[in-house]
Amino acid sequence: MKINVVGLGYIGLPTALSLAAGGWSVVGTDKNEALLQKLASGEVTFEEKGLPELFSRAKQSGNLKFSSSCVPADVYIVAVPTPYLKDSKRIDPRFVNAAVEDVLKVCSPGAILAVESTIAPGTMDTCVRPLIARAGLACKTDVHIAHVPERIIPGNMLYELTHNSRTIGVDDPAVGETLKTVYRAFCQGEMVVTSIKTAEMTKVVENTYRDINIAFANELARLCYRGGMDVNEIIRVANMHPRVNILSPGPGVGGHCISVDPWFLVGDYPDVVNLILQARRINDGMPAFVLERVSELMEQRGISISEVGFYGLTYKENVDDVRESPTLQLYECMKKHLAEGARFYDPMVKTTLVERQYFGLDAFLKGLKLVVVMVAHDELKANTEMLSDKLIFDTRNCVSGKNVIKL
Ligand SMILES: NC(=O)c1ccc[n+]([C@@H]2O[C@H](COP(=O)([O-])OP(=O)(O)OC[C@H]3O[C@@H](n4cnc5c(N)ncnc54)[C@H](O)[C@@H]3O)[C@@H](O)[C@H]2O)c1
Repeated sequence: MKINVVGLGYIGLPTALSLAAGGWSVVGTDKNEALLQKLASGEVTFEEKGLPELFSRAKQSGNLKFSSSCVPADVYIVAVPTPYLKDSKRIDPRFVNAAVEDVLKVCSPGAILAVESTIAPGTMDTCVRPLIARAGLACKTDVHIAHVPERIIPGNMLYELTHNSRTIGVDDPAVGETLKTVYRAFCQGEMVVTSIKTAEMTKVVENTYRDINIAFANELARLCYRGGMDVNEIIRVANMHPRVNILSPGPGVGGHCISVDPWFLVGDYPDVVNLILQARRINDGMPAFVLERVSELMEQRGISISEVGFYGLTYKENVDDVRESPTLQLYECMKKHLAEGARFYDPMVKTTLVERQYFGLDAFLKGLKLVVVMVAHDELKANTEMLSDKLIFDTRNCVSGKNVIKL
């Protein structure tokens, strides 16, 4: 079987490489020419543990090619972005639609079109099936559609790609069996074949569940602060209860998944959602809460904004992904309130994203009185002695000491 992976970002690239290294003939397609050039020159396009080695194995297999357009294949795996529309909060399907249209121009009869992108429940019915009909093709005969959402976590992608279970949503169980064979090239986890809409909803529910649980921890952090209580100690002790497992609070929720996918439910079911919407609001309010705490500390200790530095720009530790990151949300919030002047630094980020961004830890720390830890990168944990003469506001509960103030 020949497989065409469409979209070679954080999800599509490791998937394409794993399929090729696992023995399938794979063409990776992306519209981004600069990305294709980088891959053609032998470089991976983002930082992820084990990715360069996987790339070498995929290349050595002789099974891997790249292309800027879709090619005839037996199976298509679409892994393009799925943002939400800022006004209606509904899914913005334009990348999925464009990729599906490109596939339909070249696909052979009987091909499988599997969408891996996370989509709002019903998107395959409302977007993909009509595109197939418009192309003069029929589902289940000319094209078999499937939704195979991805669950991997940046920072541990390759382990999870191999070991996580997968959901395969199909019209026809036989297509599910074919897709199991395809993914078995690298996936050792259980593969569950179900309906397309169940697969769509399951993925969104998984991320919404995480968002709500994080929101609970974040709300606890806010009320414990108001009540003069230590939220981290309270969560530690409460979690000793055999049926309690509270997550850790933090400066907000970022990334392309948890901070996005619950909005699909808010957008499509505005008169039903309540808890889901509140969770989104609580988590989106955390960067502003961090800023309030920073200004209180500045006032109490006589620290000026130019003596404040924010450590970490990515949305989580040890990755280079900055999409929807709490620090960038906080930066926007600062600009709105004309409270600019603070420094920013992230060891994983090599391009300039904000003003007064530093590219070395030493230079960043020089002259700072208050360091706000927004991301618990390993670099910071290995260099805590460099912070000993500073006040630290630790929003990730990752450093300790007399000079450390927690969220
Ligand atoms: N990043 C994650 O951790 C993660 C985890 C699980 C699921 N997902 C989901 O996977 C999907 C992809 O996310 P991502 O993080 O890989 O996105 P990404 O932005 O890193 O990559 C998407 C790629 O698709 C390419 N692209 C866009 N339109 C195209 C088209 N018409 N034809 C070919 N290429 C096209 C872009 O150039 C880009 O390289 C999203 O739906 C996301 O929600 C992401």
